[in-house]
Amino acid sequence: MSKIKTQFVCQSCGYTSPRWIGKCPECNSWNSFVEETSTASAEHPRALGARAARNGEAIHPIRLSEIGTNDEARITTGIVEFDRTLGGGIMPGSIVLVGGDPGIGKSTLMMQMVRGISLGSKTLYVSGEESPRQLKSRASRLGIENDNLYILAETNIESVLDAMKQMTPDVVIVDSIQTMYRPMIESAPGSVSQVRECTALLMQMAKMSGIPIFVIGHVTKEGMIAGPKVLEHIVDTVLQFEGERTHAYRILRAVKNRYGSTNEIGVFSMTSQGLEEVANPSEVFLSERRTNSSGSAVTAVLEGTRPVLIEVQALVTHSSYSSPQRTVTGYDSRRTAMLVAVLQKRLGAKLAQSDIFINIAGGLFIDEPAADLAIAMAILSNQLELAIDPTACLIGEIGLGGEVRAVPQAEVRVAEAIKLGFQHIVLPRANMKSMPKVAERITLRPVAHIDEVRATVL
Ligand SMILES: Nc1ncnc2c1ncn2[C@@H]1O[C@H](COP(=O)(O)OP(=O)(O)OP(=O)(O)O)[C@@H](O)[C@H]1O
Ligand SMILES: [Mg+2]
Repeated sequence: MSKIKTQFVCQSCGYTSPRWIGKCPECNSWNSFVEETSTASAEHPRALGARAARNGEAIHPIRLSEIGTNDEARITTGIVEFDRTLGGGIMPGSIVLVGGDPGIGKSTLMMQMVRGISLGSKTLYVSGEESPRQLKSRASRLGIENDNLYILAETNIESVLDAMKQMTPDVVIVDSIQTMYRPMIESAPGSVSQVRECTALLMQMAKMSGIPIFVIGHVTKEGMIAGPKVLEHIVDTVLQFEGERTHAYRILRAVKNRYGSTNEIGVFSMTSQGLEEVANPSEVFLSERRTNSSGSAVTAVLEGTRPVLIEVQALVTHSSYSSPQRTVTGYDSRRTAMLVAVLQKRLGAKLAQSDIFINIAGGLFIDEPAADLAIAMAILSNQLELAIDPTACLIGEIGLGGEVRAVPQAEVRVAEAIKLGFQHIVLPRANMKSMPKVAERITLRPVAHIDEVRATVL
């Protein structure tokens, strides 16, 4: 029998220490250490998964060409936005972690996925949080009458695995991983040891049986999935369900994906009938725009393969502090500081004594410099109290010299802007070469330097 050992485990990153310590040396969180007892084998969960993949066979390396892929066997969820975020449907044998704030709609999303999975597929919904009655009432509200949906109210992971072996479902949902426990581990459900062990067991099962498993994980108040880093490494895909609870819009984002791009997002709107797909996110992100107000500019960014139009807002006010504030939501703050410096140096904008606030409307985080031009112009527009032409869409990266640089896939962005009714499109001159002909009412305005932009839109 293995020796009972206690150790202190950081609940945030899984770092272990023989003594209690106040601050984790690994992830710098405070007060995150909890004493845990463990008698489990100390095998690393990833090693466990890999061993499972071998399925007990004798060890012999195989040629790459002898290994088949099962890309074609992907299961569609019937929700286009969801399939896209997964990289084209559910991959057999994959384990997907779905994280998100409490009440954001994780269980709803999973339940709706069940409706979409082809009627012949059996789905097992393991609920450690809600009673079968509660699940039934949600399913009725969402209009789900799938007779191939099986509910199991269970928190013992070993019983869950037994049920999976007996029933051999096509898809399994575990709601949530924080409620699952393995009896042989003495720490409480939700602790890092339990979460890690249960996920590793599910991983082993998924790889061995080829059954895809969705695991719901709660996000702690610091914005991380409990036992976060350890889990992110074990699973194949991490999806984050985001949004403000007070707003109806929800964004499903792939944070990690072994079977697809992590740039893809799915956009949904929460209604009383559940989540509705938003096929055209640009309309959503621009829906609350006030035209003719200074400090607002529209740009086209790429979210994965899709162009999305977004509104950039800037507020420039006289600062009452000796060092003015620069607050940026949804864009890189260092990049914004650079844009402010370029405006000061190249256009002579007087911003040194101003507080500057930047906001990307709709709660998106933009990480591509193609939004530079819109941000710079929004700042200038608010400072000068002049509204930007409401039919203008500004696309372009700005360099330190004030030059407007080419952006990738400009044609796709311009096409989206035209589709949404924008008639005046400012874009980098270098992108004009690849631009197809546009209708006569549309003006494409190629620019090479930021000082050309001001006259065209303000
Ligand atoms: N009767 C209802 N009518 C309309 N919307 C509802 C109704 N019941 C729930 N909702 C919506 O569903 C959301 C909760 O969804 P869900 O239970 O799927 O979230 P969750 O992320 O699984 O939450 P938890 O963290 O508690 O498991 C609520 O915030 C609310 O917006
Ligand atoms: Mg839930």
